[in-house]
Amino acid sequence: GLEYNLRPRYLHEYIGQEKIKKLLTIYIDAAKARHEPLDHVLLYGPPGLGKTTLANVIANEMGVGIRITSGPAIERAGDLAAILTNIRQNDILFIDEIHRLNRAVEEILYPAMEDFVLDIVIGKGPSARSIRIDLPRFTLIGATTRTGLLTSPLRDRFGVVSRLDYYNEDDLYKIVKRSAGILGVSIDDDAAYEIARRSRGTPRIANRLLKRIRDFAQVKSDGNITQEITRAALEMLDIDKLGLDEIDRLLLKTIALKFGGGPVGLETLAASIGEDTGTIEEVYEPYLLQIGFIKRTPRGRTITPLALEHLKIAL
Ligand code: ADE
Repeated sequence: GLEYNLRPRYLHEYIGQEKIKKLLTIYIDAAKARHEPLDHVLLYGPPGLGKTTLANVIANEMGVGIRITSGPAIERAGDLAAILTNIRQNDILFIDEIHRLNRAVEEILYPAMEDFVLDIVIGKGPSARSIRIDLPRFTLIGATTRTGLLTSPLRDRFGVVSRLDYYNEDDLYKIVKRSAGILGVSIDDDAAYEIARRSRGTPRIANRLLKRIRDFAQVKSDGNITQEITRAALEMLDIDKLGLDEIDRLLLKTIALKFGGGPVGLETLAASIGEDTGTIEEVYEPYLLQIGFIKRTPRGRTITPLALEHLKIAL
């Protein structure tokens, strides 16, 4: 779909994450000069910051193939064996949500990553025996929201560990302008900045908002995205001045009003807003923590004065 076309394919098109790009350029150039695969790479950070995009960019820069899968999709050791025996020398295997691999699969991954071999047990009971299969040398790129979710033996087998950070306003502005160009929609600079400011540091959100605002501009106006149209559209989408959506605000208001500002435990909070704990921890909380709206304490989450001011709540 269109989403895919908005994604940069090469490092020179990839906006932001300057530190990671600089380091990856060095590692990629060195590996290519040696005609070797790149070392295994672990990418971590909140959703929507471009981990999958970066894996594809690395494959394009290396000039190798990429096989994309995810932790939950690899159910048995045999599934992983089938993938690894079917990739070519120097290819990339991208495993999204790598922290969700099960134990059995994770264990056959260790020798595959370290020595490019598969140790497979054939048969069951007393007649079971283990055979060793040589694999093509490959690069594993793993993605996860937090490295703490990985077991240490898995984490230790990555030669490169990179954290993706939230994007600043200028980078998001450039991403919005670039995406508008690809979509063929005209957008004023102040409108692009408005979207940038309200995208919670996240390109995926910026591109999603851009597409929705394009719909508004087309139906309610002449198709050009102005700041006025942008503000009207974001108001209808219930996205506030800081880019917080209904769920962000529900979470904050719940801590403030139901739990007297906190501390409130994650489980209790999740139950009272009807979201699961993982989604709160991995999707909603990171940005609210980043902007100083909530704090994690040993006894649970608390809301900050800054957030109360934004919500116009006096406790
Ligand atoms: N689209 C989504 N993320 C992007 C990025 N980091 N650079 C350029 N375009 C993007």
